[in-house]
Amino acid sequence: AEAIKKQPLVNIGTAGHVDHGKTTLVQALTGIWASRHSEEIKRGITLKIGYADAEIYRCPKCPPPQAYYTSATMPKDGKCKYCGTPLEFVRKVSFVDVPGHEMLMSIMLAGTALMDGALLVIDATKECPQPQTREHLTALSIIGVKNIVIVQNKIDVVSKERAKENYEEIKRFVEGTVAENAPIIPVSALHKVNIDALIWALEKYIPTPKRDTSKPPRMYVIRSFDVNKPGTSVKDMVGGVLGGTVVQGKFELGHEIEIRPGIKLKKDGQEVYEPVYTTITSLKTGNQPLEKAYPGGLIAVGTTLDPSLTKADALIGNVVGYPGTLPPALYDVEIDTYLLERVVGIDQPLKVEPIKAGEILLINIGTSLSIGQATSTRDNVVHLKLRIPVVAEKGDRVAISRQIAGKWRLIGYGYVK
Ligand code: GTP
Ligand code: MG
Ligand code: MG
Repeated sequence: AEAIKKQPLVNIGTAGHVDHGKTTLVQALTGIWASRHSEEIKRGITLKIGYADAEIYRCPKCPPPQAYYTSATMPKDGKCKYCGTPLEFVRKVSFVDVPGHEMLMSIMLAGTALMDGALLVIDATKECPQPQTREHLTALSIIGVKNIVIVQNKIDVVSKERAKENYEEIKRFVEGTVAENAPIIPVSALHKVNIDALIWALEKYIPTPKRDTSKPPRMYVIRSFDVNKPGTSVKDMVGGVLGGTVVQGKFELGHEIEIRPGIKLKKDGQEVYEPVYTTITSLKTGNQPLEKAYPGGLIAVGTTLDPSLTKADALIGNVVGYPGTLPPALYDVEIDTYLLERVVGIDQPLKVEPIKAGEILLINIGTSLSIGQATSTRDNVVHLKLRIPVVAEKGDRVAISRQIAGKWRLIGYGYVK
């Protein structure tokens, strides 16, 4: 059982408009504030993808919802606060917290690629939907995140009447979407009200997916670091560290890995990316060392790489696998595109115009993103020339954004041809 407790095996994401309470909710569930970067703390908004883990526990005697706890909400003695029965471990989950700010939509899309399910957080004090409530739900739907729990937040500051009215707004908004049958759980993330009901909903609606561990392992890099303190002598230095989520298969300590598209080099005056090969010298989730890493949570992979290659998130967006098993890094992609009827991420109604040759688009594939120019468009097939290559194969799902009023807005999706 200890082995199962170590690594979270399911990623539950957040989604929703800026300031609706996503990070506060993750803190209510895990005890951890996932927006830890100094700039995030200063500005009070989430800028990067955050992770925080929690163990879920259940009282074997009490009825739901009061039977449900997390490691952050349970009493210190590990016993049910209503009946004193020792709580049973259910599973360990990882929360993937994304930014809601309209400028950070491409980061939200990258986070979505890591989610097995999502909490769509809606501020009950605001009319629903707000632009990024719509845009994030569209993103979940485009990327294929189907297990959704809707969280109606900030009920501590609304009247009963407003809570009911907002519930009706939410119901109308999700009609005909992937979230049509999602439960709506009213909570106060700030005051930790009704969190047990939310945990119960997670258990019911966001199951741990069955994984095929025989597939070749693949990890998406979302962070990379140099963990050496300044002034460390060369003989005491440790290699570069990659932070990411395993999306299929399993990685084993000591194995050789390939990182694609890799590092940028200048060759004959041209910028090209070359794959990097190294060895896994350590595997960790949180502070727990692992022998094998499976899908779920944030995994830190120690390598023999020169730390200058991994410092300051330099390898963000890369894909890791065993040598020779990764898809190619493409500078040119052909995409079968499907455009939305209207731009969902802005207040005003605006039709999505067809993609024009010459137009600059932003694409997300998995956690990698790139900007490219449409060189030709025929029927719904768009050919893009990319600035940074993407590691992709036929059939991979692509999220497509276009700049509208100076900001990248989601306009559709497609599949690599
Ligand atoms: P971004 O990541 O920047 O999109 O914001 P967020 O959705 O993570 O919101 P965050 O958790 O940072 O909360 C925004 C503000 O709402 C903070 O001032 C919170 O204290 C407040 N807030 C969050 N949840 C509640 C709640 O349940 N009740 C009340 N009254 N305020 C809340
Ligand atoms: Mg936040
Ligand atoms: Mg905020």
